[in-house]
Amino acid sequence: MFNLNDKVAIITGGASGIGLAISTLFAQAGATVHIFEVNADLARQVAEDINGKGGRAVAHAVDVSSQAQVVEVVNAIAAVGPIHILVNNAGVSHIGTVETTVESDFERVFNVNVKGAYNGMFAVIPHLKSNGGGVVLNMASIAATVGIPERFAYSMTKGAVVSMTLSVARDYLKDGIRCNCISPARVHTPFVDGYLARTYPGREAEMYAKLAATQPIGRMARPEEVAALALYLCSDEAGFITGCDYPIDGGFVRLNN
Ligand SMILES: NC(=O)c1ccc[n+]([C@@H]2O[C@H](COP(=O)([O-])OP(=O)(O)OC[C@H]3O[C@@H](n4cnc5c(N)ncnc54)[C@H](O)[C@@H]3O)[C@@H](O)[C@H]2O)c1
Repeated sequence: MFNLNDKVAIITGGASGIGLAISTLFAQAGATVHIFEVNADLARQVAEDINGKGGRAVAHAVDVSSQAQVVEVVNAIAAVGPIHILVNNAGVSHIGTVETTVESDFERVFNVNVKGAYNGMFAVIPHLKSNGGGVVLNMASIAATVGIPERFAYSMTKGAVVSMTLSVARDYLKDGIRCNCISPARVHTPFVDGYLARTYPGREAEMYAKLAATQPIGRMARPEEVAALALYLCSDEAGFITGCDYPIDGGFVRLNN
């Protein structure tokens, strides 16, 4: 079950954290994985590693906030053969209230998290349509639906990801395109480590433990746990699922009382 044999998948931000786990698992499940990354060196290393273990992966230097770049690379992949799966995972964070979020930060987070996901869907959906269907999976966050302190811009972007997911799921029902999103609580990735190092220098271990404890289950998720849900949602076994936002949150949304 849950194999992706003969599928071609694009994973944005696929060289680190959750994206790395998804690239690795999708390749193990039989997919050819195209990694779209601003960190091109890291993407090349990840692709080499996957290929060295018998998988199929290709690294592409792509900034998802550039529509021209995304469209060019997607069209080049589609010229070789059909694309079946798009995972819009690339994302950046920002800490701040509305008052401490300056315009440039607002735009930076918007450009990657919102425009990046839009660009991916804008570029890939015409190809999915002409192939008779496919799957889009977007990476949202529990920040889309829960008021997390000092996540003004970040939460805004993840709310938009959930809304875009519903819009696309609705508009492409007749084209056989399923579109869902995943909303993790805290996942232990370089995203979290970078935040702790920047925000709490010298107190990383103490603050890590605090963040871990905010999940009722008592720890953060592992990227591989999110990748397993992504694999299911992108597999044919999930053929009845579209227009859904899946929390994977250790009880964060419904058990924190
Ligand atoms: N880690 C968490 O706790 C958590 C929780 C909820 C949601 N998320 C979401 O999951 C996704 C992945 O997060 P992560 O924790 O694995 O982060 P990460 O920082 O480990 O990985 C993100 C990857 O995206 C790439 N990237 C950033 N900007 C890009 C751009 N413009 N174009 C192409 N690639 C770009 C980075 O180079 C990096 O490799 C993000 O969308 C994030 O918002 C993470």
